[in-house]
Amino acid sequence: MESPFKADTLKGKVALLTGGGSGIGFEISTQFGKHGASIAIMGRRRRVLDSAVSTLRSIGIPAVGFEGDVRKQEDARRVVESTIKHFGRIDILVNAAAGNFLVSAEDLSPNGFRTVMDIDSVGTFTMCHEALNYLKKGGLGRSSSSGGTILNISATLHYTAAWYQIHVSAAKAAVDAITRNLALEWGTDYDIKVNGIAPGPIGDTAGMRKLGPEEMDSKARDYMPLYKLGEKWDIAMAALYLASDAGKYINGTTMIVDGGLWLSRPRHLPKEAVKQLSRAVEKKSRDAPVGVPTSKL
Ligand code: COA
Repeated sequence: MESPFKADTLKGKVALLTGGGSGIGFEISTQFGKHGASIAIMGRRRRVLDSAVSTLRSIGIPAVGFEGDVRKQEDARRVVESTIKHFGRIDILVNAAAGNFLVSAEDLSPNGFRTVMDIDSVGTFTMCHEALNYLKKGGLGRSSSSGGTILNISATLHYTAAWYQIHVSAAKAAVDAITRNLALEWGTDYDIKVNGIAPGPIGDTAGMRKLGPEEMDSKARDYMPLYKLGEKWDIAMAALYLASDAGKYINGTTMIVDGGLWLSRPRHLPKEAVKQLSRAVEKKSRDAPVGVPTSKL
């Protein structure tokens, strides 16, 4: 699909993306690049990085890949410094690296819980922490009046509760707290905008394959009337909006991009039935003698 944004929306900007070599992260890398940004990708797998970088370069996007694990502070520091060495500045940090698998709470070991917390929550904080000196106003390569921006990829699981996702729910709740607290502290002190995106189910991603929607029967779908698969493009457009000047007054928010799915609940009455029932109840209560509860009529 064609982007509604101008091709120079991110002209001259440098974006560093963790998990930017595959899935949603790669689509954000691609769209940021197509809109003028230079792209640095951090990931654990050399093969994935090489393929992502060569795809980006083949369409004229300046791109580089750095191997690293967000769980290791020394990797985070090295990748941030390598990005500075390569492109001279960092304007946008996207934390898209994440870990996930379906498991019941009773079958999840504390180490499994910790692993996802380490990747999603601690990893996000570590990257922000290491990039701070370059993102803040007056940081290397930027003016003394404007800071950079951070985007944290989150989820909607923790807004209510999610089956077999206690680790990810806890980790993304922490990510949202990081988003708001950094928006407050670093927005005030350094003019850095910090926002998040909470994607719904997005087709053709590792998340979707792992969480097994194919196995989800149609009955389960009945409980989610707003269930509709999104595209990676939808998330990338939201990211572009938040990272661009169009989003200059947005700070500390996590934008839900899920077609309204998290609001889903089964319809307990057909529309026609509710019309009749509601009028009947109104009539009963209007006609009732004062002080008599309608349940007694
Ligand atoms: N069910 C239950 N526990 C699991 C599990 C599963 N499917 N997969 C991993 N774990 C547990 C392990 O048993 C281990 O705990 P233990 O030491 O108590 O046994 C712990 O998690 C760490 O597993 P390990 O395989 O050593 O971690 P890793 O660092 O190699 O991999 C993961 C991290 C598990 C998050 C892996 O899925 C990953 O690398 N994911 C990144 C990509 C991804 O998930 N993308 C989707 C984004 S939505």
